Amino acid sequence: MLAAYEREVRASGLLEHLIEKGREHRAAVGGSGHSLGAIGYAEGAYLYAVLRHVRPRVAVETGVANGFSTAFSLLALQRNGEGHLHSVDLPREVGRDYEPGTFYEGEGRAGIPTGSQPGWLIPPELTQRWTLVLGRTQDELPPLLERLGTIDSFMHDSEHSFDCMWFEFNEAWPHLRAGGVLLSDDVNSTKAFPRFAGEQGRTPVRLARGMALLPK
Ligand SMILES: C[S@@+](CC[C@H](N)C(=O)[O-])C[C@H]1O[C@@H](n2cnc3c(N)ncnc32)[C@H](O)[C@@H]1O
Repeated sequence: MLAAYEREVRASGLLEHLIEKGREHRAAVGGSGHSLGAIGYAEGAYLYAVLRHVRPRVAVETGVANGFSTAFSLLALQRNGEGHLHSVDLPREVGRDYEPGTFYEGEGRAGIPTGSQPGWLIPPELTQRWTLVLGRTQDELPPLLERLGTIDSFMHDSEHSFDCMWFEFNEAWPHLRAGGVLLSDDVNSTKAFPRFAGEQGRTPVRLARGMALLPK
């Protein structure tokens, strides 16, 4: 099944697009100490496969940055022919000064080019099924979930502190329908994911190096 979904990703031309946009990102932010901060291809292919399989009508994600994971998710929704993705992101714009404490200290240095919006590299034809909420997930996720009610999938890739991951998992889980999935990147960065899985009595499914999911 995974091989078939991977063929769909390859046939879509998304990879070539992302490679080209990755070059643009390097040219724009090179030397600033910022990175793309993106999930890898393996993670993207898994994310695509999971969303093709689950066919979410309502998908939620935190952490967009330049838009890699978002692009894979939106490609899956486009191919499904249904569903909408709601993303929350507090972007770090290269060259901009932020108040101390705006970002978690242990945070990676994912940066978007000066003057751009989170998800700037997503192919425009994929953005019809997308709504972006700008701000801290700690502020924006609860009202978003309240508005949405029941969701079919949740993906964490924002601030990888224990507190933030724990907060997001606990906020999202009650909104997930039975049979929905909670995904997370960087599951090894803190104890939040394995501890949350243990509390819910669920066995995590490891997808790629840092990515795993919990079925509900
Ligand atoms: C690892 S990057 C996301 C990478 C993206 N998923 C991808 O695959 O390309 C993390 C993003 O979360 C943002 N972020 C950091 N702290 C946040 C917070 N408290 N709330 C929302 N977004 C946050 C960062 O600025 C960055 O845009």
